[in-house]
Amino acid sequence: MSAQLVDETTEAPLSALMREGSRAEHTAAETSSFMGELLAGRVNEQGYADYLLRLRKVYLALESVGRDLAATDAIAAAVHDVALERLAAIDADLAVWAPGVDTDAVESAAADAYVARIEATRAWGGLYAAHHYTRYLGDLSGGQAIGRLLDRFFELGGDGVDFYEFAEIPKPKPYKDGYRARLDALDLDPAEKIRIVEEVRVAFGLNQALFEELGARLDDYRL
Ligand code: HEM
Repeated sequence: MSAQLVDETTEAPLSALMREGSRAEHTAAETSSFMGELLAGRVNEQGYADYLLRLRKVYLALESVGRDLAATDAIAAAVHDVALERLAAIDADLAVWAPGVDTDAVESAAADAYVARIEATRAWGGLYAAHHYTRYLGDLSGGQAIGRLLDRFFELGGDGVDFYEFAEIPKPKPYKDGYRARLDALDLDPAEKIRIVEEVRVAFGLNQALFEELGARLDDYRL
């Protein structure tokens, strides 16, 4: 690790390091073929249901590990909030997009690898916080626009997009500001901050792998 990086890391707030450290990965996720097609309204119901089925596995792990870790780990406790939990919303959406689907039957190497990595964060709350940030802050940011686009393209009238609605968080902006303030108040040394930023990059990579898995099936997902 370079001396310069350590210096920057000592000075900069953790939330800024997490954002800057994953900027390139964020652009890659935004420009993935699956996301691009989805947001252009060119993915059918099966494609979106397959995405939700993968997210279900991810959030099941995020939310069960989060509840356990937050009870004992100060870093996990700083980010964990039941108001963010998405599992029930995903199940409600799946009932619209793929009624009666067997959620356990989905086979996804990308989702399984993602879940394994989330399970491994039980070792240290800093790693968990990296995964928590990558998903929930994204859901509270670009996710809001994604929900509106889906609603418009599929003429859903608000059905099937609960995933993007945070009933207990009516204003994402102040919530995100508070979230970043809690991250920045953590007492972490530079090596710990660097480890967290690296795990954010890993988390983005795992999302990218999910998109690539779905992108390889775009022929099945044509409208
Ligand atoms: C086409 C897809 C996407 C679009 C259009 C998008 C758009 C955005 C926008 C506009 C913001 C900034 C919001 C703000 O300043 O408050 C943002 C933030 C964020 N996005 Fe995305 N995003 C996309 C995909 C993703 C994905 C796949 C992830 C990760 C799984 C992600 C994670 C994040 C995170 C963590 C932030 C918060 C950055 C920070 O302020 O620290 N985004 N996104």
